[in-house]
Amino acid sequence: MRVLGISGSLRQGSLNSALLRTAAERLPAGAELVEFERLGDVLPYDEDVELAGTPEAVGALRKAVRGADAVLIATPEYNSSIPGQLKNALDWVSRPAGKSALNGKPAAVIGTSTGMFGAVWAQAELRKVLGAMGGRVIEAELAVGHAKELLADDRLELSPRQYEQLEEILAELISQAEIEAELAVAA
Ligand SMILES: Cc1cc2nc3c(=O)[nH]c(=O)nc-3n(C[C@H](O)[C@H](O)[C@H](O)COP(=O)(O)O)c2cc1C
Repeated sequence: MRVLGISGSLRQGSLNSALLRTAAERLPAGAELVEFERLGDVLPYDEDVELAGTPEAVGALRKAVRGADAVLIATPEYNSSIPGQLKNALDWVSRPAGKSALNGKPAAVIGTSTGMFGAVWAQAELRKVLGAMGGRVIEAELAVGHAKELLADDRLELSPRQYEQLEEILAELISQAEIEAELAVAA
């Protein structure tokens, strides 16, 4: 099973990218996480640009989503919501209307912030957006607060309870992906 990992942060030392690396280590056996590392290359969504042809990075992102069995996004929270560049990239993925690359794809959201709430509002909004785009969204969330204090070796050192929550989310994501794969074979 191939899981596409997307960190919603563009910065080099991103705590959400560190959380994604922690998640990669906790995937069930047989599943691997491949990270999309070109979020910053995605142009602002513009229907005129879309009608003129698919921008290269957008094509790469759509291809990565289509080629994955599931999608896992680690999102920061900016002003109680989704970072603009992540939302923008997802808007591209949702197009053309009715042909979202995320359609029917299992998707899960995790997140971390430097404050105490662990990006809960951004995660809730992101789950809503992914559902609107046709994703099969896992409802459980992992909100990791005070992330700076947890950073060790480019990953986040979680509490036992948080590791448990993370593993539950990943297990549900992979199990949903397996169901989708079986349905595709049967179709
Ligand atoms: C524009 C901006 C707005 C932010 N708003 C919030 C917020 O609403 N809630 C929160 O918990 N943290 C907020 N933060 C702090 C982020 O949690 C922190 O910068 C975090 O490290 C971003 O994730 P990253 O390390 O993956 O880049 C904000 C940061 C920025 C740059």
